Amino acid sequence: MTSTAITGIGELTTNDDELGTLADAALVVEDDRIAWVGPSGSAPEADHHVDVAGRAVLPGWVDSHTHLVFAGDRTAEFAARMAGQPYEAGGIAVTVEATRSASDDELAANLRRHIDEAAAQGTTCLETKTGYGLTVAEELRAARLAHAADEVTFLGAHLVPPGTTAESYVDLVCGEMLDAVAPHVGWCDVFCEQGAFDADQSRRILEAAKARGLGLRVHGNQLGPGPGVRLAVEVGAASVDHCTYLTESDVDALAGSGTVATLLPACDLSTRQPLPDARALLDAGATVALASNCNPGSSYTSSMAFCVTTAVLQMRMTVAEAVRAATWGGARALRRETGDGAVGVLRPGARADVHVLDAPSTTWLAYRPGVPLTHAVWRRGTRIR
Ligand code: NIG
Repeated sequence: MTSTAITGIGELTTNDDELGTLADAALVVEDDRIAWVGPSGSAPEADHHVDVAGRAVLPGWVDSHTHLVFAGDRTAEFAARMAGQPYEAGGIAVTVEATRSASDDELAANLRRHIDEAAAQGTTCLETKTGYGLTVAEELRAARLAHAADEVTFLGAHLVPPGTTAESYVDLVCGEMLDAVAPHVGWCDVFCEQGAFDADQSRRILEAAKARGLGLRVHGNQLGPGPGVRLAVEVGAASVDHCTYLTESDVDALAGSGTVATLLPACDLSTRQPLPDARALLDAGATVALASNCNPGSSYTSSMAFCVTTAVLQMRMTVAEAVRAATWGGARALRRETGDGAVGVLRPGARADVHVLDAPSTTWLAYRPGVPLTHAVWRRGTRIR
């Protein structure tokens, strides 16, 4: 067993209800777990000692929504969008073609590069999805390769592949595809949106996934108002992601449910959509997460700090709310916020995922927008930066 005391913490965000946010604090990491949290002067002896000289410390970011098993590039599509073209889900087909043509090694290296890029910015727990394969063999390949991430979601229902009818593709997803992929993933997601899958088709897929023991998530209300949020609540999904177009009854449904509203502000900016009404969700009592939605089409960033900054400056979230949403909220969306090895929290027994900012306070994430503030990162107790 090896231990490290991190002392001299100017502001420690724990996300633990009892510990709260501490000034002049310390924590001790033992192997891959947090062993102790408390006042700096009382820190127990440890094998190694790191004094962070008054910097702010928080849990590593928990990025609960990415699409990183992909190949290819959509720079031209992005440029066209910035010149006024609308975002259309059809762009997904371009990435499907490139992904099918890539080797396993290419896909694995691309995924690893993006996980490392995110980790260098403080992301210590990351979910990723299939969804650029859309055949049984390609979705299975993506599910296997995705295991470099902490959590893997099956998104066979990302788009109806060209040349197929929606009904026959839903039959395939609910049967042969889920049979093949379910043993390799923890979650199933559906893109419930006009131009992708309607509520009945989405429900069939989610129920088939639930019957195979998978947790559920939904892409909903991204490009317009729609049934995604209500369906997610109805089936007991852990999260509904996007939530850009919400009605009052969607907000009420989320507030009365255990379904996390995962907001993806970098995607809304990159697709020139309005930003979601985080304030309405929080004021109603809904649980909010922030995630990057890192993918080559609608949101090509791995920066959780950018999402937090945007949430504070443009979505009327407080810094504390945004930081919590990007750590504890993401963990809750992945159902990993409690128990031994919990993420998104810093308390004894939690996974030692620690993010040190080159700042005296998390407020600087919004006060100094765009400035890289990650000073040091521990993931599972190992210093990776
Ligand atoms: O979450 N909404 C659907 N899927 C992705 C977009 C993926 C793409 O454009 O390649 C999203 O935004």
